Amino acid sequence: MRLGVLTSGGDCPGLNAVIRSVVRKVERHYDGTIVGFRDGYLGLMEDRHEILTIERCRGILPRGGTVLGTSRHQPYAHQGGLDAVRATMQWHLLDGLVVIGGNGSLGAARDLHTDGISVVGVPKTIDNDLSATDVTFGFDTAVATATEAIDRLHTTAESQDRVMLVEVMGCHVGHIATWSGIAGGATMILIPEEPFDIDEVCATLRRRHDQGRFASIVVVAEGAIPVEGTFVLPDPGLDRFGHQRLGGIAHALAPEIEGRTGFETKVVVLGYLQRGGSPTATDRVLASRFGVAAAEAAADGAWGKMVAIQGGRIVLVPLSEAVAEPKVVSADIHDVGKVFFA
Ligand code: F6P
Repeated sequence: MRLGVLTSGGDCPGLNAVIRSVVRKVERHYDGTIVGFRDGYLGLMEDRHEILTIERCRGILPRGGTVLGTSRHQPYAHQGGLDAVRATMQWHLLDGLVVIGGNGSLGAARDLHTDGISVVGVPKTIDNDLSATDVTFGFDTAVATATEAIDRLHTTAESQDRVMLVEVMGCHVGHIATWSGIAGGATMILIPEEPFDIDEVCATLRRRHDQGRFASIVVVAEGAIPVEGTFVLPDPGLDRFGHQRLGGIAHALAPEIEGRTGFETKVVVLGYLQRGGSPTATDRVLASRFGVAAAEAAADGAWGKMVAIQGGRIVLVPLSEAVAEPKVVSADIHDVGKVFFA
């Protein structure tokens, strides 16, 4: 078997564990060859590659990022992109391709499959927003990082009677905010799934103040939105791939909260810290399971599928299903967070 592998979209702890796992399974069990493409779909279109071997993958398991590099380039956004993908795959006599990516990258993988390219998908995102899998690798690491930060912020907030606004990643969904907020004992958690009312946020903080508590930790997902007409957020525009830029909500909220409540309000934006560094043991295991499953799916010719975990078991789901709907935070877990508000 000859298999291409690429990592696409934002990087995520655990990508290297998937690569290592695919390589190990294909080389050892199928006596096959893995061609790794650099910088996501861009390297596939431009045929920038390296042959990945077990030797090459030594030591990469605990490393964050991706040894292959990644980018947000998509074949369908490039003129002649599909032909270039076909040409590279034919040149290397590839039986198929493993795409390790999030929503956008797997959407492109689904379209490639429709266009006759043999693809298997592996879900990756710290945001955990893919509905066909119970969880994605990278999420556990991001939550652990955010929780550790919140733990640290408690002591400084308490010492100086401050409100801390902790902005975490999550452009369309609030899984990281919800999990780290519950784990870190947040005063409030603001997520895109439930628009917030600034009046209520300030009332909650005042109530806490009235109870004799001064320090508060408010965890806010970068994509959180106010109830329409209650508060206007600045629009940072689009990035070069046409995606809405995010980040900055905490900086917009802080003066508003401070002005309305009189409580000194500080901002911590965790940003790319949540993506960097070594994956947790849980993410390493999940990524390794996904890599083995992807190699097996390719060997079985199960193209057009994405590996997933459902109820603790590794399964294959059609790529079309995998990217159909984002997975939002369920009301039941958000309600658990609310029990601890204020
Ligand atoms: O991977 C998803 C994500 O982490 C989002 O939460 C975030 O908005 C986005 O990536 C930012 O990535 P970049 O700045 O690299 O485009």
